[in-house]
Amino acid sequence: MKRSYFRLLVLICLSGSPLFADDAIEQAMKKYHKAPQGTDPVCKKVSNGEATADQLSELLKAYEAMAAAKPPKGNQASWDEKNQALISAVKKIQGGDASGVSDYKKAVNCKACHSVHKPD
Ligand code: HEC
Repeated sequence: MKRSYFRLLVLICLSGSPLFADDAIEQAMKKYHKAPQGTDPVCKKVSNGEATADQLSELLKAYEAMAAAKPPKGNQASWDEKNQALISAVKKIQGGDASGVSDYKKAVNCKACHSVHKPD
């Protein structure tokens, strides 16, 4: 009885998570990488060293959710590496480390990630 309940839970987790996962990636892209016309997306503010503490902590959460998600394309190792680069760059900036901004600019390279992980 206990055992089958556990199995059911595992099944729910396995079948449910990819749905949330894809969503986490899209949300992060729409909210932080792409902005309505005429405004700067959060990623650009970060690259310019102009992001507020609130924006940085929101962004960090979005990247952590993205990192926990399965990439729709490409392999997991590459996905992990790219997301970790984003996460550690944001953490560096939060910690006041000046090299964080240049790390971030490298990590947030749209094309480098899309060419490997974004479905056509
Ligand atoms: C670490 C990887 C990564 C980086 C860096 C990245 N993207 Fe993405 N992006 C993705 C993936 C993966 C998708 C596809 C999501 C899906 O289809 O589930 C995507 C999708 C998108 C989408 C479509 C979202 C939608 O509506 O489905 C936009 C817009 C976008 N990215 C903008 C950007 C911009 C602009 C940048 C650079 C400033 C950027 N992305 C950097 C991984 C990345």
